[in-house]
Amino acid sequence: MRIIENFNANWRFRHGFDRAQAGALQEGETVRLPHSAVELPYNYFDETEYQKPFTYQKVLDWRPEFEGREVFLVFDATMADSVVYLNGTEIIAHKDGYTPFEARLTPHLTRGRNLVTVKIDGSENPEIPPFGGQIDYLCYAGLYRDVWLKVASPVSIANVKIETPDALKEAKTVTARVFLADPQDLAASGSLTGRISRKDGSEIAASSVAVSGRQATLTFTGLAGIELWDIDNPALYTLTLHLETAHGADVLTRRFGFRTALFTPDGFLLNGRPLKLRGLNRHQSWPHTGYAMGRRAQEKDADILKYDLACNIVRTSHYPQSKWFIERCDEIGLLVFEEIPGWQHIGGEAWQKESIENVRRMIERDWNHPSIIIWGVRINESQDNHDFYAETNRLARELDPTRQTGGVRFITNSELLEDVYTMNDFILGSEELPGNNRGRVVLRDRVETTGITRPIPYMITEYNGHMYPTKRFDQEQRQAEHVTRHLLILDAVAGDGDISGSTGWCMFDYNTHKDFGSGDRICYHGVLDMYRIPKFAAYAYASQGDPKDGVVLQPVTFWARGERNIGGVLPLIILTNCDYVEVKFGEWPAKRVHPDRETYPHLPHPPVVLDLRSVTPQEFGTWGRVWREGTFTGYVDGKAVKTLTLPADPVPATLEVCPDDTALRAGEKDAVRVVVRVLDQCGNLLPYFEEPVSLALSGPGRIIGPADHTLKGGATGFWIEAGEEQGQLELTVTSRRFAPRSVTFTVS
Ligand code: GAL
Repeated sequence: MRIIENFNANWRFRHGFDRAQAGALQEGETVRLPHSAVELPYNYFDETEYQKPFTYQKVLDWRPEFEGREVFLVFDATMADSVVYLNGTEIIAHKDGYTPFEARLTPHLTRGRNLVTVKIDGSENPEIPPFGGQIDYLCYAGLYRDVWLKVASPVSIANVKIETPDALKEAKTVTARVFLADPQDLAASGSLTGRISRKDGSEIAASSVAVSGRQATLTFTGLAGIELWDIDNPALYTLTLHLETAHGADVLTRRFGFRTALFTPDGFLLNGRPLKLRGLNRHQSWPHTGYAMGRRAQEKDADILKYDLACNIVRTSHYPQSKWFIERCDEIGLLVFEEIPGWQHIGGEAWQKESIENVRRMIERDWNHPSIIIWGVRINESQDNHDFYAETNRLARELDPTRQTGGVRFITNSELLEDVYTMNDFILGSEELPGNNRGRVVLRDRVETTGITRPIPYMITEYNGHMYPTKRFDQEQRQAEHVTRHLLILDAVAGDGDISGSTGWCMFDYNTHKDFGSGDRICYHGVLDMYRIPKFAAYAYASQGDPKDGVVLQPVTFWARGERNIGGVLPLIILTNCDYVEVKFGEWPAKRVHPDRETYPHLPHPPVVLDLRSVTPQEFGTWGRVWREGTFTGYVDGKAVKTLTLPADPVPATLEVCPDDTALRAGEKDAVRVVVRVLDQCGNLLPYFEEPVSLALSGPGRIIGPADHTLKGGATGFWIEAGEEQGQLELTVTSRRFAPRSVTFTVS
């Protein structure tokens, strides 16, 4: 049977690359993948530091299992422009930094020690996407995803495309188009069996065919008792394929789900049911380690989107992302808009050819994921280019007729070659600024942006972002406006039946090139910061979730007399999914305030807004008067479900050290996030606490990034990474004002 083994440990890494030395093991640092060639500071760095070549090497000793079989290295992705050598001989070159490739080692393996050398070139080669123009994100160099050793029979299963053509019928069908790999041209015949099983392993159906040639199709019909894959019940099934030929056996398993997904001119339908898409764009980056994060951190981002932000969709802007992330989306029921790499710029013929190949590689990698509902087959925000995009669309439809295509643009009246017109509608601006904004126009009309009068499927793929960059520690009035803009757009989308949904810009702040961001190489466009710590705007999303999945009650205020212009906290937005909120100012009688359906008629859960409609300025006192404690109580079905107290005199009371988990896995580069916050006597974040904290870690692991942090806006974050050994990690956080805080992690 095939062997798939993790090939991440014990790589030798060095800066630079010398072709003449590709056959000899060189000096260097020993590293484990996923690996970032350069770990940058948090901000104010020089991004050209990683824009150069690097060498990765690893010894592969001959093993008896290789005898008579095919041996490959599978690279989940490398950034970028990579060349793989075995014992000095070039095996394969792969340019794209986001799609997987296989290096076939078989013909060059010796029966002793073998040396794998990978050159990766972090310079932004203008001949390949996304490079050639400016890009608003970083493409961090390195072997930044997993690498696998694959040993298979000479004839093996290369891929399978699983389709569920009649998912909504009582008795369902599955077809599996199976593609065989036969690199030695053995043209073997044999038999192929497929088994479909439930999550618990129990078998539902089996089917067999004889195979000759490189393709075979298995069909399973009359499948009963099948659960649909849906966002609330993401039921997954497994197809296990067994191939037998005279050259040996092979097995491949893939998960899939039964569902339909359709964008129509009247909105999006999941399993035939209307579903308003509400989500955010996500980059695959982290502070310091760039793209190089393993499974846990990838999964955590999906969980944050689904469970903390109540999103039902994510757009993988602007490239195919980690399989761990997408698999997690399958598991938790988070829909995905996946797109090819690129940002505004379209290069010449060779560049476009590479981009078309990206369409192929993206779809062939991901076509079995039920979470993916649309392929983005345009370079994000590029100009029209008929021949190029006619081809990306043709290819996407040929490879996968079961999904619609989209192509993200900001230009209006763009040629619609896709199935869905997907639009970055950056219009909501401010009265006083020139440029592409029209004051408080929230979204443009579909006919205005598309220039197409007939009804067409339409989705908003970006909004806000650079129109209103906002830091987690910005002044509260700015944050309130940031929140308002997200709410206004969510409301407009919710109220417009023509719009299938939206993905806002964006999930979290990200490091970027000098031409973008706030001058410190950060785009502060997220509803979370780079550590995934929420800004107030995060609760604009979170509060749209059902209270049974988590009550949200978040006043958009630091609760102080003098934080805002002229003082006070009015108007006060309270982001909540409660039916109403009771607010008390000091000893004044509680005021019951209901959600503001007047301003936000379409939101599932409009915020409660405390303003002159509900209170008089006298009730809150004015500048120079005594400031009092605020108490907020949220009610659902007449019951008080959450109470929050904002003290009038907040003092630092607690240094909170909060890890996402304390159980790590050894030998995986398993990284867990830790958030440090300073809280007042009532447990609220102190938004202007900015003192230093020092981190120390003992045991088999390391802190990613520096051990000294200055709290920003009362908080900071970091990731702890397990090492090769099992054992205990002890994290200690020291600061001037608090006793040291320790957390113990087990690494097993
Ligand atoms: C868009 C672009 C995004 C990001 C965003 C900022 O133009 O697609 O990648 O740069 O603007 O608002």
